[in-house]
Amino acid sequence: MPNNEFGDFQTPIELARALVNTLPRQRWTRILEPTCGVGNFLSVMAQSHPEAERVGIEVQPEYASSASQFGRIITASIFDFDLAGDVDWTSEPGPTLVIGNPPWVTNSQLSVLDSINRPSRANTKNARGIDAITGSSNFDIAEFIWIKLVTEFSDRPVTIAMICKTQVARNVLLHCARHSLPVTSSSLRMIDAKKWFDAGVDACWFTVELGPGRTDYTAQTYPRVDASQPDNRIGVVDGQLVANVDAYERSKQFDGVSPLMWRQGIKHDASAVMELAENDGPRTKLGASVDIEKDFLFPLFKCTDVYRDNLSVVSRWMIVPQSHTGDDTELLASTAPKLWKYLTDNAAVLDGRKSSIYQKRARFCIFGVGPYTFAPYKIAISGFHKIPQFRMVGPYDGTPAVFDDATYLLPFEDPASCAVAHALLTGLEATDLIAALAFWDSKRPVTKKLLQRIDLSAIARATDPAALRERSAATAAAHGPVFEAASLTHAVDRARGHTL
Ligand SMILES: C[S@@+](CC[C@H](N)C(=O)[O-])C[C@H]1O[C@@H](n2cnc3c(N)ncnc32)[C@H](O)[C@@H]1O
Repeated sequence: MPNNEFGDFQTPIELARALVNTLPRQRWTRILEPTCGVGNFLSVMAQSHPEAERVGIEVQPEYASSASQFGRIITASIFDFDLAGDVDWTSEPGPTLVIGNPPWVTNSQLSVLDSINRPSRANTKNARGIDAITGSSNFDIAEFIWIKLVTEFSDRPVTIAMICKTQVARNVLLHCARHSLPVTSSSLRMIDAKKWFDAGVDACWFTVELGPGRTDYTAQTYPRVDASQPDNRIGVVDGQLVANVDAYERSKQFDGVSPLMWRQGIKHDASAVMELAENDGPRTKLGASVDIEKDFLFPLFKCTDVYRDNLSVVSRWMIVPQSHTGDDTELLASTAPKLWKYLTDNAAVLDGRKSSIYQKRARFCIFGVGPYTFAPYKIAISGFHKIPQFRMVGPYDGTPAVFDDATYLLPFEDPASCAVAHALLTGLEATDLIAALAFWDSKRPVTKKLLQRIDLSAIARATDPAALRERSAATAAAHGPVFEAASLTHAVDRARGHTL
């Protein structure tokens, strides 16, 4: 993405043509391209709609002059404009299309550039909810423009079709639902932004119909610009934005509160010191052998190990010097002198940790540690990967496994309860709910907040106990732990009774 204040990505004409082809066959009489650049969309529309009144707005005069061959161009900043009211149309009101590709830039990028090319509240007429966006320091300029458009055009029928990030499209849908804007239909078509703009973002062609009629804040999504069939529907259901409306309808009774608390793996920000390689060791990454008390060494699995199921062989260890973040580490000098020496020998790295969370804390402290860290059985899932993979992980040679901070986990003392929870999390109900709640284009699609919404007790109660026992036994058999059938029966009963 170019780091310029105009978020300047001119749409290749071939893409503009393909996008225009997806629009409803309509005789548009008014066509507006805000931020029209050199006017590639206007040029496509000039060919298909020579008789329509075409107007563009562009802030850069050279672009405006180049676009003027395809319509009337107003050289101005869109931020100073009421897009529905300030254009002096000469044609009679009729089917109106707003089309284009607003700037690809965020407010904080503009701050870095010290740019004045950004909205000011004073210039924003009649824009309910815009304050909420401009109040956030890193809002997307394209999102601002979308919201300005849907707000300013909310009193007349219009079709708005523009390229934007999928995240922007979702936020706009949510905004429209929250402000009861008259959206009657909408869709997203995924654009290969790498191919067309050499940009590593998830972008789409977002089309919104505003007008009288029944409001609908769900949008069909198409996997490609030229796809003939949608493959999903996203949107706002019961006031919430969901990633898969159909999956949410099927699973919303399980959207509640998990009876168990999800935890994040350990955070230490010092992998060179706290993580050791097995490699006939333990050894540091540089190969030096490390001799410390065994009680402080735990088999370590990273989120990628969890995702790939590389969990049967231990290749790393983590030093866990505390059993709670608040523990006084100075005591290690007498209780674990070898560990204390190792930590003090490496104090430069540990004391140099930048994050403020380490300030005013015990020296060498870590985060994400508590009784749950030492539970022998765990269910772990990577927060980074795009396919949810829950793993059941038991102790290694009697020592509980620990995880990095990109992994989320549920701790269990009892292997049967762990197997039941695993069976519940991998069943259809939880799979549907996760599909409904996770946006896979986010950096961390699976979050603690999302996992905490999966009501495992409600799923257990909706599942036949015999089938759940069978699935749990199969899970346990696949993952190793051995326990008696009676403990599985008890674990299933506990799961159904809120006390998993
Ligand atoms: C992503 S480009 C898209 C250009 C054109 N719509 C297209 O699709 O090829 C964004 C355009 O917005 C223009 N722009 C940036 N800030 C603007 C503003 N405040 N008012 C009007 N145009 C602006 C830039 O100069 C650039 O031409």
